[in-house]
Amino acid sequence: MFNSRILENAPGRPVSSRTAYRPGRLGLARRVALAAALAATGSVAWGANSGASLGRPANAKEIQAWNIDVRPDFQGLPAGRGTVAEGTKLWEAKCASCHGDFADSNSVFPPLVGAFQATAQEMKTGVVAKLANPADGFGTSLEKLSSLSTLFDYIHRAMPWTSPDTLSWDETYSLVDYLLNLANIVPANFVLTRDNVQQVQDKLPNRNDMTWNHGMWPGGRQILADGKVLGNGGIPDVHNKECMKDCAPTPVVASSIPAYAMNTWGDLQEQTRAWGPIRGQLTLTRAEREARQKASQSAASDPNANIVALLKAHGCIACHSMGDTKLVGPGYAEVAKKYAGQKSMVAELADRIVKGGSGTWGSIQMPPQSISEGDARLIAGWLVDGAKQ
Ligand code: HEC
Ligand code: HEC
Repeated sequence: MFNSRILENAPGRPVSSRTAYRPGRLGLARRVALAAALAATGSVAWGANSGASLGRPANAKEIQAWNIDVRPDFQGLPAGRGTVAEGTKLWEAKCASCHGDFADSNSVFPPLVGAFQATAQEMKTGVVAKLANPADGFGTSLEKLSSLSTLFDYIHRAMPWTSPDTLSWDETYSLVDYLLNLANIVPANFVLTRDNVQQVQDKLPNRNDMTWNHGMWPGGRQILADGKVLGNGGIPDVHNKECMKDCAPTPVVASSIPAYAMNTWGDLQEQTRAWGPIRGQLTLTRAEREARQKASQSAASDPNANIVALLKAHGCIACHSMGDTKLVGPGYAEVAKKYAGQKSMVAELADRIVKGGSGTWGSIQMPPQSISEGDARLIAGWLVDGAKQ
């Protein structure tokens, strides 16, 4: 985010107008620094007349609204207080629908804690050994976490997914406390405050497993108070040259979106984008397209018998079970109960199927579906008639 340190350092840097015209070679941080240096000295040709009268300096309030980052040394983290008990309540109300009751995720979202329980040994060494071996599976978020500040920053900035930047700092403290407790890093009665965050940081099981020796840190190589070296003064660009002979084996893609989730956002190829060369990947196989067409035709002639095929062909059952069980969305038997006999709801439900939405069954969004209105109406009618199979 907004990094005032770059801006403060910038005017002291030597800047030549030659480099100013080659921004492609500079990392973003350097470009920000450069822009600030130019603004501060006002001495470089393109700053002289062209843009000088445009805009105005941001005022303190505007900067404050952007300046919400929490840094690894906890600069930017306001005073606050959180408890595991309060975090549990907030979690259930605002987070569990996507991340699972115990942050182990349901079928779609990333597991934040899962089966992970930090051991005393890991808290001592600050290295989660199993992460070194990808064959042991992907680590959960709390397993990999090296800076507690990231958890504060990310949750406060970006979660809940559907309404980011709405949590108070006390709420954020409680949610962080709850997650730390699930991962066995703090006990259930632990009160997390601004004063003890560093103590918790010093217990994070994977705090020593990340390298800071790279050019992503702006401001050159810095030695922190505790002797840690931050950054190496390099630039974040990639320096690799194209390999022409005796190259390493071609990389193989090891994971991709699972087949059942390919159409989660609808058949991308059917969606028109207004611009750009890429129109969307074909996410339906030819067989799936044909099955969709066939199901549509036969469902029209004999709705009850064929509606299941229609739901399958449209990938609805990736998120909806046929019975009462909630997957990502409610089970169809459950939906049928809610709208039993309400013929007046058919048009409305068909519309919701096409457009998607959220709020009736929880906070998870149903994405818009690429389904014809006719098919959506058949399904809606089948639902209010009791979802018979
Ligand atoms: C509507 C679904 C939804 C809700 C509700 C939700 N999240 Fe998330 N969360 C996500 C998704 C999706 C991601 C991954 C986002 C990405 O990678 O861009 C995520 C990522 C995260 C991460 C980062 C995981 C990582 O390793 O990168 C944390 C931490 C997190 N959520 C915490 C929370 C907390 C705390 C709440 C409640 C205040 C919450 N989430 C509510 C969907 C949700
Ligand atoms: C990516 C997951 C996903 C897919 C795919 C999906 N749904 Fe949903 N659906 C949901 C969620 C989540 C909800 C709950 C939305 C809410 O709370 O308002 C929902 C709700 C519904 C409802 C209830 C609407 C209401 O207002 O009560 C119906 C009906 C429905 N879906 C039908 C379908 C049909 C038909 C398809 C396939 C064409 C489909 N869904 C595909 C996730 C999905």
